[in-house]
Amino acid sequence: MNSKHIVSPDFDSIQEQTLIPTHVAIIMDGNGRWAQKRMLNRIKGHEQGSKTVRSIVETSREIGVNVLTLYAFSTENWQRPKNEVNALMTLLVSFLRSEEKNMLDNNIRLMSIGELHRLPKEVQQALNRVISITQYNTGMILNLALSYGSRSELVDMVKKIATGVKSGSIEIDTITPEVISANLFSMNLPDPDILIRTSGEMRISNFMLWQLAYTELFFTETLWPDFTKEEYLQILHSYQLRERRYGTVST
Ligand code: IPE
Ligand code: IPE
Ligand code: MG
Repeated sequence: MNSKHIVSPDFDSIQEQTLIPTHVAIIMDGNGRWAQKRMLNRIKGHEQGSKTVRSIVETSREIGVNVLTLYAFSTENWQRPKNEVNALMTLLVSFLRSEEKNMLDNNIRLMSIGELHRLPKEVQQALNRVISITQYNTGMILNLALSYGSRSELVDMVKKIATGVKSGSIEIDTITPEVISANLFSMNLPDPDILIRTSGEMRISNFMLWQLAYTELFFTETLWPDFTKEEYLQILHSYQLRERRYGTVST
């Protein structure tokens, strides 16, 4: 282990290591508290949070992460006050419009998981547009979890497989973990290597329950709008020092 990497990991020291995570997932939490601490409306926190999204997308692309999944809106978040939900939807549309060029310039492909039909029409249109124009990009996948809940994803998977069994296209004995993965919203994406949750909460909040089986978890007290590229690199560095055993023993 090279001590140079421990003190202050910078971009180069992360890239020198061969172990760049394929898939990073982030529960971006703490926007509301960031605003409240400053006596601002919670919506200001979401606006500031979207700036962090830009910087973390950029860093992930530079580092060579293949898939970045961002938990942006949960199925439970629909229960928030109407003005907050509306503001989040408006922010999402402006994010998509302003990032379109950036995604094309940087070879980033947009994907999305969740109950997308529940999103307002305007959001669906903006989303589908960017998904479609970036579909052949190969540099990185930016996967937005929108109106996403893992339990509803699992229910949807069970229904798909049960329908297949009923119609005779799936035999019960051929149902494997791979078949289950392939029938989730996240389909062909690999499972996350890293999950980061900001804002100090130590919970999963209905996020990728199946896919996180062997993911390395990182929790930080930092509120999402304050989350920096430096802290992200620090986490990637800590990940590189962890030993993933998958239930076996050290070699
Ligand atoms: C995360 O920040 C953004 C969304 C869930 C949409 P929060 O809005 O949950 O912020 P806190 O947890 O109230 O501080
Ligand atoms: C999880 O954060 C959802 C997203 C970050 C989109 P929440 O703030 O909604 O989760 P809880 O309520 O603290 O569990
Ligand atoms: Mg929260």
